[in-house]
Amino acid sequence: MTAPTAADTNNAAPQPEPLLELVDVRAGYGAIEVLHGVNLALAPGAVVALLGPNGGGKTSTLKICSGILPVTGGEFRLAGRTVNGADAAALARLGICTIPEGRGIFANLTVRENLWVATGTGVSLRDLEEVAYERFPILGKRRGQLAGSMSGGEQQMLALSRALGTNPTVLLLDELSMGLAPRVVSEMYDIVGGLAAEGLSILVAEQFARAVLPIATSAALILQGRVVRTGDPAEIDRELSTSYLGGQR
Ligand SMILES: Nc1ncnc2c1ncn2[C@@H]1O[C@H](COP(=O)(O)OP(=O)(O)OP(=O)(O)O)[C@@H](O)[C@H]1O
Ligand SMILES: [Mg+2]
Repeated sequence: MTAPTAADTNNAAPQPEPLLELVDVRAGYGAIEVLHGVNLALAPGAVVALLGPNGGGKTSTLKICSGILPVTGGEFRLAGRTVNGADAAALARLGICTIPEGRGIFANLTVRENLWVATGTGVSLRDLEEVAYERFPILGKRRGQLAGSMSGGEQQMLALSRALGTNPTVLLLDELSMGLAPRVVSEMYDIVGGLAAEGLSILVAEQFARAVLPIATSAALILQGRVVRTGDPAEIDRELSTSYLGGQR
């Protein structure tokens, strides 16, 4: 037992230990630093919305978390352990799974073949298909169809299925709304909210705050490579409509 902290004695419920944490993280491309000390925490079962304008550093922050972009300063922690320098394969084995901007599916492969791609993680095709078709029956009907010929929403379901089939603990989602009609975006975010309710921890980068805030448990605003504000989604929503993004939501 640890002694109660100031947070415990407040009215607020004690915060669970973050599963994923960035502490003053710096990173860049070549000689150019683009993240100048990012602080972010993702608790188990939480949905953190990472918001901000073009070029703010959302994708770069997700790339840190998936091991694609190396940390040059600060600490990247998973379940309290520093994992600076761990590569993408090692982080995937630790349960981190990414759906990149543009979904990362292969347009000229079928649904089934796209699922097969994830067998590289050690999961069988049979298990991947079972998870996918049970959650999204439409994918079962389209199993032999080229992924590129499906609707944007169906492609996003495929990307989600492929991610979930590997049984991740942390899901990183980049601009899920891209190219989707508003109704489909809200359907997809409802699904994402359901995944968090099942215990998955989710970090979502999204330029359009309105799409993700309804399912977020907290929101962080990143501007010019720094998280300038973290808080309750409703509060951030109010602030966004008046300030930082000049009304863009
Ligand atoms: N591969 C790269 N090489 C050089 N600079 C890059 C690269 N990728 C991103 N940057 C720069 O890093 C900064 C942050 O970009 P990042 O893609 O992380 O922003 P973002 O918030 O995801 O933007 P968007 O909303 O447009 O997706 C930008 O200034 C961008 O120009
Ligand atoms: Mg981006």
